[in-house]
Amino acid sequence: MRAIYATRGGGDDPLANLEIGERPVPDPPPGFARVRVTASSLNRHDLWTLQGVTGEPITFPRILGCDVAGTVDAYGPQTPETFPPGTPVVAHSLITCGRCEACLGPDETLCQHFAILSDGPYEGTLAEYTLVPAANLFLLPPQFTDAEAACLPTAYLTAFRMLFGRARVRPGDTVLIQGAGGGVATAAEAIARLAGMRVIVTSRDATRRQAALARGAHHAVETGRAAAGEILGLTAGRGVDAVLETVGEATWATSLRAVRPGGTIVVAGATTGANPKADLARIFWRQLTVMGSTMGSRAEFAALLRFAEVSGLTPMVDSVVPMDQAPAAFRRLAEGTALGKLVVRIAPQPR
Ligand SMILES: NC(=O)c1ccc[n+]([C@@H]2O[C@H](COP(=O)([O-])OP(=O)(O)OC[C@H]3O[C@@H](n4cnc5c(N)ncnc54)[C@H](OP(=O)(O)O)[C@@H]3O)[C@@H](O)[C@H]2O)c1
Ligand SMILES: [Zn+2]
Repeated sequence: MRAIYATRGGGDDPLANLEIGERPVPDPPPGFARVRVTASSLNRHDLWTLQGVTGEPITFPRILGCDVAGTVDAYGPQTPETFPPGTPVVAHSLITCGRCEACLGPDETLCQHFAILSDGPYEGTLAEYTLVPAANLFLLPPQFTDAEAACLPTAYLTAFRMLFGRARVRPGDTVLIQGAGGGVATAAEAIARLAGMRVIVTSRDATRRQAALARGAHHAVETGRAAAGEILGLTAGRGVDAVLETVGEATWATSLRAVRPGGTIVVAGATTGANPKADLARIFWRQLTVMGSTMGSRAEFAALLRFAEVSGLTPMVDSVVPMDQAPAAFRRLAEGTALGKLVVRIAPQPR
């Protein structure tokens, strides 16, 4: 089968590790389903893999991609069929052990053996076929194209959990979303707006700030030293209730200064570096909560799909490119010029 994979991780030019070629069609083991992939979206995670930065040690070549929409193709031995073969599906991309205390409790994202597709021992989704736990399959929401659905499992689920599972914001609250162009940031912006929050985004780029305002963000502020003061001005000096932080070092100081006393900063990424000045005095004096967030549980994925159905949420797709143009899409992801999600078309849409 054709696949997009990393030949190795690291080196001076990580994008040179990207290759498109033939890989064997995988056989599903017990508990797994094989999905015939039609659309898969790119994430910063794929760039980390090309850079050799992985949560668990991985072997190469490694098929990239965490997100998949497609049709059910086959099941492993002794695996109850979640949906009949041929059914259009989207997959929750988290794989957990199912046996540990976390898995048996309410939040399996805390599993010690947690992995996402393309991580640890699991191949990714940028291929004609991919394997996912049968229990991770969900019906492709009928209101979405497969390309839109392929945006949900990583970026949209991460944003959904940051807002509701972690920050626990409510309608009427003000949230600051750092970065107006990234996959998680555009997802958070759309979800927060539809859930009745006041949304402030930051971006380095004037066009991206304008686009955010046109989509319905209440305010768009230029990233940089003056941002915190501007945000305090927009909130009558009070500060925002919650900050969604995925940019890291470039925006951390603004996050700490723009949040209200007692407010929350949820961190799910650090694209520009993971070690900003912590400013502990500010954290304790203003009684801030800083919390991490990663992906989301199966129940949160189901809740996201329900939210999308009732709210009219539509994932923001920058573009859908054929497999042979994936290297250019990876370059755009690395340069940060995409607006929303980059999707790779693997096979024609199922319906
Ligand atoms: N924990 C999880 O489960 C999880 C899930 C998904 C993603 N992530 C992580 O979250 C981060 C975001 O990923 P993503 O795919 O949404 O997008 P991304 O391509 O990493 O971009 C994120 C944002 O960073 C901003 N940015 C990039 N370079 C910058 C710089 N030098 N200065 C200021 N801002 C800069 C961009 O904003 P502007 O260009 O608009 O300024 C963009 O909106 C990544 O680090 C990723 O690994 C984590
Ligand atoms: Zn577990």
